[in-house]
Amino acid sequence: MRYITFALAKGRLAKKSLELFEQIGITCEEMKDEKTRKLIFTNEELGYRFFLAKANDVPTYVEYGAADIGIVGKDTILEEGRSLYEVYDLGIGKCRMCVCGPESARECLENHELIRVATKYPGIAKDYFYNKKHQTVEIIKLNGSIELAPIVGLSEVIVDIVETGATLRENGLLVLEEVCPLSARMVVNQVSMRMENERIAGLIEQLRGVIV
Ligand code: PRP
Repeated sequence: MRYITFALAKGRLAKKSLELFEQIGITCEEMKDEKTRKLIFTNEELGYRFFLAKANDVPTYVEYGAADIGIVGKDTILEEGRSLYEVYDLGIGKCRMCVCGPESARECLENHELIRVATKYPGIAKDYFYNKKHQTVEIIKLNGSIELAPIVGLSEVIVDIVETGATLRENGLLVLEEVCPLSARMVVNQVSMRMENERIAGLIEQLRGVIV
């Protein structure tokens, strides 16, 4: 039997995905050891291999077939724009991609002003402002702590993930517009989908049984 290889986005999502897999009898004890420096883990019995990768790299591994299946956030899938099949919404890691800023920025958005938008997701921000809102903006790419940008005057608004809203509240910012809902998705390599259709379809079926 050929191994089915999974690429999991490192962090919270990987932990939650492994919990889901455990519920359908797919376990990988080795991977839970937080001190391990090993990069790839095997379940010989089931013919599965798992590895953890930076979220942004998961769609790349899947597009090239280095992983058959990836578990990654919809935000990353949209931003990376890779050729792959998005086959299942795991319903975990639910949050929203939003345009946020101080109340004073609301008017700039309504009037379609030429504003600056800071974000870790320039692709998503561009698509939203240029293609959906038809508003010309200047996009500034940042790598983290995006909420800082409007506070220190780098930009008028940000495009960022909002989960509980706590980060915004504690920094005097608000959701001004919603771009799209997000959650973790299962993505599949296009060739694997044909070659391993039975095993992959079986896996989705099993997941359906435990995801309400
Ligand atoms: C994410 C996101 C927001 C925050 C939202 O940041 O970019 O800053 O979580 O969560 P909340 O609505 O529950 O407060 P992350 O922790 O991934 O770190 P980052 O600053 O590096 O993006």
